[in-house]
Amino acid sequence: MTTAPIPRFPDGFLWGVSTSAHQIEGAADEREPSVWDAFTAEPGRVKDGSTAAVACDHYHRHREDVALLAGLGVAAYRFSVSWPRVRSPRGLDFYDRLVDDLCAAGVRPVPTLFHWDLPLGLDWLRRDTAERFAEYVSVVAGRLGDRVRKWITLNEPAEHTLLGHALGTHAPGRRLLFDALPVAHHQLLAHGLAVRALRAAGATDIGIANSHGPTWAASEDGADVAAAEFYDVLLNRLFADPLLLGTYPAGLGELMPGDVEADLSVIAEPLDWYGVNYYAPARVGAPRDTETDFSGVRMPAELPFSLREIEGRPVTDFGWPVVPEGLTELLTAFRDRYGDRLPPVVVTENGCAYDGLDDQDRIAYLDGHIRALHDALTAGVDVRGYFVWSLLDNFEWAEGYARRFGLVHVDFTTLARTPKASYRWFRDVLRAQR
Ligand code: BGC
Repeated sequence: MTTAPIPRFPDGFLWGVSTSAHQIEGAADEREPSVWDAFTAEPGRVKDGSTAAVACDHYHRHREDVALLAGLGVAAYRFSVSWPRVRSPRGLDFYDRLVDDLCAAGVRPVPTLFHWDLPLGLDWLRRDTAERFAEYVSVVAGRLGDRVRKWITLNEPAEHTLLGHALGTHAPGRRLLFDALPVAHHQLLAHGLAVRALRAAGATDIGIANSHGPTWAASEDGADVAAAEFYDVLLNRLFADPLLLGTYPAGLGELMPGDVEADLSVIAEPLDWYGVNYYAPARVGAPRDTETDFSGVRMPAELPFSLREIEGRPVTDFGWPVVPEGLTELLTAFRDRYGDRLPPVVVTENGCAYDGLDDQDRIAYLDGHIRALHDALTAGVDVRGYFVWSLLDNFEWAEGYARRFGLVHVDFTTLARTPKASYRWFRDVLRAQR
């Protein structure tokens, strides 16, 4: 790992950390159920058989977590508002307190309005879920909008579509393959309606957190190149083109439900900034004729591509390759692809799964990615912020508690929080930027 100081970022650059409600809050009996509660109750769905009923118990310990944020010295905290909690009596009171405590600690609250915990009974295959979402967003904005300036509509509609509805490894556990496309459309519509609802409530700083990554062809062979281009369409273009260009990539609009042209004018409501979650690039080849297992996700043979290992790189505990320059490549490619249509970019998630309190490998990962982000700035990309995933070890979806992404260790028996070496390292990086 290089020891040279991290280069200086522009004044006002927004440094933060991210979490999500279902992964940290616990207090599941003090809210309505979500699709994730139903999913984790099914045997075999979560690898260690765990649930998020308690998780980090952040709901009851949020003061301690706000103190950890203040000690870290971040300017902003990205958390998510749980829609099922807002539907329950006094649910919004919790976010009211959290936002007050963050403001008192000098940490800017950046709520995400949907991070996969859909209220049980709602369904993204149905169009009216988008309308219900906009109503809920109006309620949240009405309550928190006097103190919250920066809003995020959705987290990673791509992963929620792919893992939750196409492959079935996340809630709600459907394996619809390409029949899952309406789920993407309805989430994008929900985003556009939410932007309108937020603007109606006076918000002026609205973004989304989309997962993106470079897609590299496994070889120069035409079949591999075509498969990689297709994967780029699915992961990158399908979720960015409608927002930034007001169109679907060729061939996909026809597969979407409803009056797609009219919906696209809602989906393309101008954004104030564009959030990118980046973890690793994908190496993509032609389809394989049998099912494959990729980083714990079963990939059916019917898919028109297959994912391959990226060799010669260190990997995280998740098996994901560590490729910092992939972040520079991604952001410069987005700038080239979308030009003036791309608003300022914020990296809304970046991080890695490693065990241990002396987590030098996490420090190396973050160090490399922050430098790569600075390279994107130097190359002329208008980057305005960077958020580490995550503040705390937490409920890592289908992996349960086995994958630890936190700057702060959580003992899931005692719920004790212990800052890791990476927490102190990031605190020092932030101090040097002041
Ligand atoms: C999600 C997080 C998740 C992280 C690591 C992102 O896809 O937004 O909820 O914990 O990746 O898997």
